[in-house]
Amino acid sequence: MAGKWKGKKIAVLMGGVSKEREISLRTGNAISEGLRRRGYDVVAIDVQGGDALVAALQDARPDAAVIALHGKFGEDGCVQGFLEMMRIPYTGGGVLASSVGMDKIVCKRLAEELGIPCPRDAVFDASKNSADGFVRELQMKMPVIVKPSREGSTINMTIVKEPSELAPALKTAAQSDNKILVEQYLPGREITVGIINGQTLPPLEIAPKSGFYDYKSKYTKGATEYIVPARIGAGMAEKLQRWTHKIYSAIDCDGTSRADFIVPSDDEAYFLEINTIPGMTELSLVPKAAAHIGITFDEICERLLDGAKLKVN
Ligand SMILES: Nc1ncnc2c1ncn2[C@@H]1O[C@H](COP(=O)(O)OP(=O)(O)OP(=O)(O)O)[C@@H](O)[C@H]1O
Ligand SMILES: [Mg+2]
Repeated sequence: MAGKWKGKKIAVLMGGVSKEREISLRTGNAISEGLRRRGYDVVAIDVQGGDALVAALQDARPDAAVIALHGKFGEDGCVQGFLEMMRIPYTGGGVLASSVGMDKIVCKRLAEELGIPCPRDAVFDASKNSADGFVRELQMKMPVIVKPSREGSTINMTIVKEPSELAPALKTAAQSDNKILVEQYLPGREITVGIINGQTLPPLEIAPKSGFYDYKSKYTKGATEYIVPARIGAGMAEKLQRWTHKIYSAIDCDGTSRADFIVPSDDEAYFLEINTIPGMTELSLVPKAAAHIGITFDEICERLLDGAKLKVN
């Protein structure tokens, strides 16, 4: 029901302790402002850790929480589990959707199971195996991209062009996660598809001026060109929307999400990952795609909040 939390107390959880803290503060402040403009009673909570969060929630006693956290402990099911146990309805996916969505390796295996193509990969566990042995036995053509399985914002990710760069790239990725994905690097158009409460948005094309959509290209104004609708055919656009919906449903997601794809040619596309709590500043990708079909930023915030609920009954 639209506006069902009007007159109730809403906590917006932001900041957090992950490497994406700064981005989360921007997301959280933007959502808080959007909800206030719509007349909601919002209390912003800067999440500093478990004990402090419990104390802040016990103090604020919110009727519902909007989770505006990115990355570790915020987007991966941990905070969601906390809120379930405190019986505070919250936005977005539950524990399962969040933890599967956060883990690129698990999510890719699921996407493949659903018949959605993904770039070839090899998996390395830095807590169990030696990097030297893994590098020696790796049978993949360069370039590859080395990613922490559970991280965001391109943090600790490296494009590797020469085998000699593999070991340092694994070390870098291990700074975020022991589980590491070594993936075939595919040149092509980068397309992202947003989804709000099950409604897919027009695909948006991302064209970073540097050629790599890294942290700087993501958060520096003017460093990346965004094109909506993406320069792909209607059939491809429809396919990427269908795939996004399929993955979102399979992991049992809710609220806003965004799936990232690489499209090397007119008839070929690969799924990279899904973000279950995508950036939500006025310059972020979901609001940009939504604006194209007349959905305002404040309306996204309200729709997100409308869907707040407990998922464990
Ligand atoms: N296999 C690939 N081939 C080509 N480019 C890739 C590939 N994987 C990732 N990239 C590039 O690296 C960027 C970051 O990768 P990815 O989306 O997997 O990680 P992320 O850090 O979780 O991102 P987000 O900020 O969306 O959470 C992508 O947006 C894309 O530009
Ligand atoms: Mg991404």
